[in-house]
Amino acid sequence: MITSAPDFFSDPDVITDSKSYFDLMRSQGPIKREVYHGTLMVTGFAEALEILNDKTGLFSNACSVVGPIPGLPFTPQGSDIRSQLDAHRGELPWSDHLVCMDGKRHQEHRMLLGSLLTYKRLKQNEEYLNSLADRLIDRFISTGQCSVVSQYAHATTIYAISDLMGIPEDDRAELLELIGAPPSQIDGDAVHKVGPDPLIFMKPRFDEYLRDRLDNPRGDLMSDLIHAKFKDGSTPDFDIVSGLARFLFGAGQDTTSRLIAMAILILGENKSLQQRLQAEPARIPDFIEEVLRYDAPVKVAYRLALADTRLGEVEVSAGTILTVCYNAASNDPTHFEHPECFDIDRPHVRDHMGFGRGVHGCLGAPLGRMEARIAIERLLARVTDIRISEDHHGPEAERRYRFEPTYTFRSLAELHIQFTPF
Ligand code: HEM
Repeated sequence: MITSAPDFFSDPDVITDSKSYFDLMRSQGPIKREVYHGTLMVTGFAEALEILNDKTGLFSNACSVVGPIPGLPFTPQGSDIRSQLDAHRGELPWSDHLVCMDGKRHQEHRMLLGSLLTYKRLKQNEEYLNSLADRLIDRFISTGQCSVVSQYAHATTIYAISDLMGIPEDDRAELLELIGAPPSQIDGDAVHKVGPDPLIFMKPRFDEYLRDRLDNPRGDLMSDLIHAKFKDGSTPDFDIVSGLARFLFGAGQDTTSRLIAMAILILGENKSLQQRLQAEPARIPDFIEEVLRYDAPVKVAYRLALADTRLGEVEVSAGTILTVCYNAASNDPTHFEHPECFDIDRPHVRDHMGFGRGVHGCLGAPLGRMEARIAIERLLARVTDIRISEDHHGPEAERRYRFEPTYTFRSLAELHIQFTPF
């Protein structure tokens, strides 16, 4: 239990127990300046929504991925830093990618990608996902145990997006290795020194896939992407398309994988919920939503205030970085009754911040939801009495779960279960 505010961005206890940290910050107000890096921690649901839904362009996504730690490449001056940001934007980590874009540029790129992730395309992917889950379960079911992250969750998500995009079967296992776990954000500062395109290492391979589809469309998402046009009919540059393809490939892997792992952890700890979902599989989507509210894979995202403003009682000066704490907002007792209770019957079960909100809300949410639903449906259809492995995680009263050392993601490093096959 955390009782005095540690450094969110470096303390290992916060990585293990982010809930207590968020509760502590929220008890001091829905927007509170933390003392170590000067960022404003936004933990209230209404306050987070106000920032995410802002229509005035006051809050930029320029530092959305890495937040306050690398610092801005300029010293904010005056009451409006828009021109300073314009001059230095390209120096910020991840600035080439959709999630860090703002305004018209962001809108154009998002529409291009969004138009491809259609319901019809996801439906086509559904059959593959069902058979994939069964094939993965076949590999471990007879042993009565599973290392969930490595044997099930990770493989589900990489193969799912690969199938959707049209990545050749032979390349998938290697890409799974390459993507790996999220890099540590608390050991050293390598992760903060990334440039505008940290996914550049995948560029040659994705360029090749896309070039190949220029003349030989194959009905997959990359074929549509390379032939897609902006709303005004113009054709995007090849490098823009390549960046979007790489971001799409990277964006939904670890997040969805850790959602699946957290869902299985919660099932392993709650036998009656397991039995209920086995009896009522139609409630699995609500279960997934409640996992996204209760303990979602993306803990926080960041926004940069472009001009002096005020949020409730708090003065916000231009250049301030806001840490929008999605997992705190999704557990705000002024918005959710008994947020500490895991309850798939709560009203408006989708009313959480697990996928963010507003113009940058997750584009892949329908896919993430479908992958997680199918992974849980197939597991519960084939095994029963899922138990957390005491050898790996300790006895029930003294569980130990290890999380990847990242302050942005809630990322179970490993999860070992035992079960009885049907
Ligand atoms: C359950 C798994 C997932 C979770 C929890 C999740 C969460 C999020 C969140 C919180 C954001 C907003 C970031 C911000 O506010 O700055 C986001 C953005 C995004 N996500 Fe996801 N995501 C998931 C799966 C996926 C998948 C499967 C894909 C792609 C196939 C995807 C693609 C994207 C993209 C492209 C954006 C950027 C949208 C924009 O900036 O306009 N995500 N995601």
